[in-house]
This record gives sequence, C-alpha cells and structure tokens, in this order.
Amino acid sequence: MWDERYAIDEYLFGTEPAVFLTAHARLLVPGASALAVADGEGRNSVFLAECGLDVVAMDASPVGVAKAERLAAERGATVDFRIADIMEWDWTPDAYDTVVAIFIQFLTPDQRGQVFEGMQRTLRPGGRLLLHGYRPEQVALGTGGPSNPDHMYTEALLRDAFGGMEIERLESYDAVIEEGTGHLGESALIDLIAKKR
Ligand SMILES: C[S@@+](CC[C@H](N)C(=O)[O-])C[C@H]1O[C@@H](n2cnc3c(N)ncnc32)[C@H](O)[C@@H]1O
Repeated sequence: MWDERYAIDEYLFGTEPAVFLTAHARLLVPGASALAVADGEGRNSVFLAECGLDVVAMDASPVGVAKAERLAAERGATVDFRIADIMEWDWTPDAYDTVVAIFIQFLTPDQRGQVFEGMQRTLRPGGRLLLHGYRPEQVALGTGGPSNPDHMYTEALLRDAFGGMEIERLESYDAVIEEGTGHLGESALIDLIAKKR
C-alpha cells in the first residue's frame, strides 16, 4: 500500500520536516544519536542529519526509502537508512539519545503498545522521545491519516503509555499543515515530548 502511494515523482509528504520537529529543534543536539521510525521519504531524518545528529532511519517501504536516499544525497546529508518492519525491529536497549516518531498511526492499538514499549527501551536514560500525530477528531477533518479513530492518540492514552517517562510536553491543538498532498489542511494534532528517566 505504501509503495503504491510513494510511487509518484513528488514527495507525498513533502521534503521539509514536520513543523513539530523544527519547532523543537533546540532539543536536537549535534553529535547525538537518533532513530527515526517509519520515516517514509526521509523529510524528517534528513533534517535531523542536517542538525548534526547521527541518524538511523527505518521504514517498511522500499519505494519510500529509495526516495529518502535520493533526498539525503541531494541535500548532502548522511543517514543510515534501513528497510524494516517496525514489528520486527530490534529495540536495542539504551541505544539512542533521540527517537522521532512522526505520523506512525498505521499501527493498530495492539501493535502500538509493543512499539511504544520498544521506543522507550531503545532510548538512553536522559534521552528524548519526540512523538507527533493525530487526535480522533482528525477522522472528521479528513485531511490526512487513517480513517480509524482507534489509531489516533489522546492525551490520556499517551500519558498512560509513557507514564514511566518524564513528560515535558503533551499538547493537543488544531493547526493548518501543508506537508505535500498527504497531510494538507486543518488538522487535529497532538505532540508528546518525553524524557527517559
Ligand atoms: C504517514 S507515513 C509517515 C512517514 C514519515 N514519518 C513522515 O512523517 O513523513 C507512515 C509511514 O509508515 C510506514 N510504515 C507502514 N507500516 C510500517 C511497518 N509495519 N513498519 C515500518 N514502517 C511502516 C509507511 O511506509 C510510511 O512511510
């Protein structure tokens, strides 16, 4: 499904990073290690590399990863791209300073629990998770994301899932986003920034 969506010349979600990431760029420390999960066509991992981070990016779509490699080459950025299924990912404990998870709402509630645990495990103590996604209200807006509200996040859901971390920011808000044709228009968003204790 994602290979088909990405099989166009344009970048479905654009080539600029999510505004969420640029808004919190002060947290992206040069030389730190980062994992970008379900990174797609590379807009976020390339930005992380441009900020001086040492980046591993993974995604299940070979077509998406090929576009990501092209974007990195065009921008002179170095990213270690991997084609992998997130459900098979080896969440090596204490491996990364930063984990970035932007619009990974293909996950069912069951899958989400496993991935959320893995992302926490693979962070080093003091490392940060930057998670950005849609709230259930997004389904009615229809400007991006899955149509199943069970895949969306609420503050209560994220507070529960990441209760073992120090939550530095948890905010629900509506904003107009313009990320290619994939995410375009008024959107019901939610951000989480949390530090591993
Ligand atoms: C909405 S896109 C977001 C891409 C990127 N994070 C961004 O913000 O531009 C969701 C991504 O999840 C990837 N994906 C879907 N199922 C996956 C899986 N089982 N394992 C890894 N990646 C997956 C898709 O290939 C797609 O790139």
